[in-house]
Amino acid sequence: MNDLEKLEQDLLQAVAASGSVASLEAVRVDALGKKSSISLLMKRLGGLSLEERKEKGPLYNKIKRRIEQAIESRKVALEMAELGAKLAAERVDVTLSARPEGEGRIHPISQALDEVLAIFGAMSFAVAEGPDIEDDFHNFTALNIPPEHPARQMHDTFYLPGERDGSQLVLRTHTSPVQVRTMQIQKPPLRIIAPGRTYRSDSDMTHTPMFHQVEGLVVDEHAHMGHLKGCVTEFCRAYFEIADLPLRFRPSFFPFTEPSAEVDIGCLRKDGELKIGGKGDSGDWLEIFGCGMVHPKVLEACSIDPHTYQGFAFGLGVERIAMLKYGIPDLRTFFEADLRWLRHYGFAALDIPSLGGGLSQ
Ligand code: DAH
Repeated sequence: MNDLEKLEQDLLQAVAASGSVASLEAVRVDALGKKSSISLLMKRLGGLSLEERKEKGPLYNKIKRRIEQAIESRKVALEMAELGAKLAAERVDVTLSARPEGEGRIHPISQALDEVLAIFGAMSFAVAEGPDIEDDFHNFTALNIPPEHPARQMHDTFYLPGERDGSQLVLRTHTSPVQVRTMQIQKPPLRIIAPGRTYRSDSDMTHTPMFHQVEGLVVDEHAHMGHLKGCVTEFCRAYFEIADLPLRFRPSFFPFTEPSAEVDIGCLRKDGELKIGGKGDSGDWLEIFGCGMVHPKVLEACSIDPHTYQGFAFGLGVERIAMLKYGIPDLRTFFEADLRWLRHYGFAALDIPSLGGGLSQ
């Protein structure tokens, strides 16, 4: 074997022996780079005679090409092998059990609202909404609470800075203005439910400056007190999941309804525990609803003829019914954003709310 053949064989061996794309690259620089033996030979060609150049030139070039080809095919093989190894190492094992993920919880207010809307939805009520910032007309005047009316003092109103025209916007003190807004833009028959935030400047064990209400309104030519009673009774029994829940309608006063009533549900208090249901007569009563027949002046304020149409309305506090159903003792905890509290009182996110089905969770 002459020197040239030996050189070629050595280089081909080095190519075959390289075990990675990186080491092959080192071999390439060694074999074909500027300082490689082949480059040196090529350089020396210039100093040879024409005859010799004719003989050696093609020879060197052939060797060079063979080595280039060997490197190229080795490179492809190595790349394939490296890809295969990577794929094998990164393969996803779909049979592995999932890593535990922190699971979010549904806040009891959202849960209670979902249940309330599902129950009234099944009675064909549509959801209506209004703004949190209200004007005096919608929050008070149209609801038969004119300026200087003592009922205004009952609402500890948050006022916004006065407008240029002297009027003052308020944070709505109840969801009743949504009644007005709905009647102003829709003609009877109406059957709506309006959930939302409400605000009063009040804060203690049983009051928070922001809380939630759900307002109901039915207006048509024939709606009467019997319908109101049936509707409210039906709702309470579905929501509390107690088929024979005792209810009591107690005469009351609201400026926007006449006659007005407050609705109490039967409960039993025993050893400091409160149990919804039980016998109303032998136990206690808990107030949960305000309601009544829509006052003719309210209909008039919304351009609905009170001689043709009549209706009933009701309002309830969402925190209150959530506390009662789910045994949450302190109202303020709803808004403290304490994750431990939410984990304890919250609801699983993926359970679709059934009609008042929260107790089974
Ligand atoms: N708006 C009343 C409140 O916040 C609740 C209420 C009572 C609403 C009677 C009504 C109703 O629609 O008829 O105290």
